[in-house]
Amino acid sequence: MSAGFRRSRLLGFDATRTGTPCKACRGEGDPPVPRCVFITGASSGLGAALAAHYAREGATLGLVARRADALQAVAARLPTPSALYPADVADRGALRAAADDFLGRHGVPDIVIANAGVSVGTLGAEDEDLPVLERVLRTNVVGLAATLAPFVAPMRSRGTGILAGIASIAGLRGLPGAGAYSASKAAAITWLESLRVELRGSGVSVVTICPGFIDTPMTRVNPYGMPFLLPAEEAARRIARAIDRKRSFAVVPWQMAVVGCFLRSLPNGVYDALTARRPRKPRKLPL
Ligand SMILES: NC(=O)c1ccc[n+]([C@@H]2O[C@H](COP(=O)([O-])OP(=O)(O)OC[C@H]3O[C@@H](n4cnc5c(N)ncnc54)[C@H](OP(=O)(O)O)[C@@H]3O)[C@@H](O)[C@H]2O)c1
Repeated sequence: MSAGFRRSRLLGFDATRTGTPCKACRGEGDPPVPRCVFITGASSGLGAALAAHYAREGATLGLVARRADALQAVAARLPTPSALYPADVADRGALRAAADDFLGRHGVPDIVIANAGVSVGTLGAEDEDLPVLERVLRTNVVGLAATLAPFVAPMRSRGTGILAGIASIAGLRGLPGAGAYSASKAAAITWLESLRVELRGSGVSVVTICPGFIDTPMTRVNPYGMPFLLPAEEAARRIARAIDRKRSFAVVPWQMAVVGCFLRSLPNGVYDALTARRPRKPRKLPL
């Protein structure tokens, strides 16, 4: 075990290791084959790649996003059927209706992935960024919670199921110029941890995923270098593996767990000096 990995475990991380193929990948043992997976934010990027990953395994899918045309284009490329729900995750009623419809058609899903999210630059000193903060929190935190909530009781009754939330390494410290996004992902991490403990012993697992950088429309606007950038398909594969293994907390790729541990271990003065002049996410992006 490498020193970085051992250290990451000590600091509470559960990094997804990628060097050695798992037993299932080597054809040994029976990999758990998800039959039914519900994913939000499936019209683009990571969500679309996760949908393709599970569809290749033969899963029946429930897919949510606001843009119906983009969602249909993703579904048209999948080899398995999917139920499409054009909805805003900030609309709790619409999500509840989508979940009820999916439960009625396909029963209790094996996996629910709250993946929908938005990212935009914000500045704490700008009044006009306060509504942006509100919007980001509604999507990335309330939307995540509202995605998982309708499935808790049915999964608990059945005694199995995995609820996964896509947070971010950006939730580990406050990134200058991205306060709304960092705050939303920190809140997502904390919400998921509370849920995990609340469901302890129920048979329902809660998985927190913290991606580093993934090549998607969300990151293509970033004016800075992105270390360990993963193609969306590879990120989806690694994330699905962490979900199958019911990791309580996984950083993907594992190298970013080391970066995250390093950043969290820095005293504030050093962190401030290191990050103050870092290039920032553009503000006023469409959400
Ligand atoms: N890319 C990265 O490097 C990275 C790193 C860490 C974490 N993440 C997280 O990974 C998740 C996926 O991001 P991505 O990189 O794949 O970005 P993306 O390509 O921009 O995809 C975001 C997805 O979320 C959906 N979405 C956004 N707001 C929504 C809303 N209010 N209601 C329903 N769906 C909504 C979008 O669809 P519609 O526009 O059609 O609604 C789209 O399908 C996000 O939670 C993001 O924060 C990404």
